[in-house]
This record gives sequence, C-alpha cells and structure tokens, in this order.
Amino acid sequence: MIRQVLMEAAAAGAAQLAGYFGKEFTISNKEGLNNLVTEADHASEKAIIEVIHRHFPNHSILGEEGGSLQKEEGFRWIVDPIDGTINFANNIPLCCVSIGVEKEGKVIAGIVHNPILNELFYAEKGMGATLNNRPIRVSQKTQVEHSCLVTGFPYTYLDQPNSPLDVFERLIRKGIPVRRLGSAAIDLCWVAAGRFDGFYEHHLQPWDSAAGFLIVEEAGGMVTDFDGNEFSPHQPRIVATNGKIHPELLQWIQGKKP
Ligand code: IPD
Ligand code: CA
Ligand code: CA
Repeated sequence: MIRQVLMEAAAAGAAQLAGYFGKEFTISNKEGLNNLVTEADHASEKAIIEVIHRHFPNHSILGEEGGSLQKEEGFRWIVDPIDGTINFANNIPLCCVSIGVEKEGKVIAGIVHNPILNELFYAEKGMGATLNNRPIRVSQKTQVEHSCLVTGFPYTYLDQPNSPLDVFERLIRKGIPVRRLGSAAIDLCWVAAGRFDGFYEHHLQPWDSAAGFLIVEEAGGMVTDFDGNEFSPHQPRIVATNGKIHPELLQWIQGKKP
C-alpha cells in the first residue's frame, strides 16, 4: 500500500513539474540570493499532499514548501516537491520529485521521479532499489583517485571550517572529477545507479536526502555523516558512496588526504 501511494503521489507531483517545465511561471525568492520557489513547487507539493492525505489521513507530512501536518500515527512523509528548482527554472532537465516515508523515525521507502528524463528511482527497506522497475547496483571502483564524484553547494553556510569550497578544491587540485548537478536527490540516485562513485554535501535538509539515501543503501552503497556515523536525513552532512571508496572519501573530506 505504501508503494502504491508513493507511486501515485510522485506521479501527481511529477505531472505538475512536467506541465510547468519550459513554460512561464511565477518565481519568488526565499531566504538568500537565488534560493527560489516557483509556482510549480507549490502546485507539486499540493498535488502530492492531496494524494497522501486521501489515502492516509492520519499520517504526518513534512513538506519543504510549508505543507506540513503533524498527526498521531508513527508514519511521516518527507516531501521535496521539486528538487533542483534552479535547474527547473532554467529549463535544465535535472529536477525531480522526491518523497521518503518514515516509520517510527526510520526511512522505510523512497521515490525520486524525474519526469523530464523519464527516470523513476524507487527503494523499500530490505527490498533493493530500482530504476524504472529494473534493479540497480552501485559501481565497483575502489579508489577515490579513479572515481567520478558529485557534490552540491548550499545557498548559505559556505563560510565554515573545512567548507564546501575547501573540500572541492582539495579534490579538484588532485585532478579528481567532481560534478555538480544541482539536485541532491538526483545525485544520490545516480550514485545508486553506478553513474557516480560517490556524493557528499555539507548542508542538506531532510527532504533533499530522505528518499535518495535509502535508494543508495538499497543499491548496495553506504551512507554516513562526515564522521562515518550512521546517516539520518535530520542532520545536514552526507557522504554516499559505492561502499568501497567510503573510508577513503571520508579522509579526503575530513582533510586527512592527500
Ligand atoms: C537544493 C538541491 C541542491 C543542493 C541544495 C538544495 P532545491 O534543493 O538539492 O542540489 O545543493 O542544498 O537546497 O532547493 O532545489 O529543492
Ligand atoms: Ca531540495
Ligand atoms: Ca525543493
């Protein structure tokens, strides 16, 4: 039932995203320069919440654009109605709907749907991960120096010790490719699909990572915070890899390498 409702909710949000993509829509600014929210973000969140609420009126919802509901039961749906809003607003097809479902505080299922590239990633705890219904696995690389990585930069919080720019510079100066796609949910799913060997980011919100981190784990990868502790989407720092390069990438991020 959770799977069916996740699919229906993601499809409802994705229909809004696809409907607005490439068209004219209103854009407003949130806190910080270029931290945007569009008419499509609101329309997608509304459509997603309508589906969840219709099937599970007693479940809680944590939505990025304000659509949160606090209920009694132990289920909570964590919703990013468009991850990659700046891409979306610039007609760059790297944007998606991302929804994770928590039961008693643990993520048990997640979906990331990019209707522009027609890619739907899905995972359920203990059941593996899929891309368009086909099983996916992380890559086999064993060394960071031979890896292709991806990261993202927060809109604020750039000035901190061992900042996003410091870590990026360390890797880039060594000649290690580090891409920046602009959607943390897609970054995570592309690690799960073996397109990237690792992803890290300094400051994510629960809706950016809740679905994608489970998809990486279920594809055989590893996800932790920057100290190697078990990951929770309710803290900001994330390292997600194929598992094999994980200890070494942690060292790069912590400044213990090169
Ligand atoms: C953003 C994207 C981006 C990440 C930012 C997020 P949004 O989400 O995931 O990749 O670097 O930290 O805020 O604003 O497009 O939903
Ligand atoms: Ca996001
Ligand atoms: Ca968003």
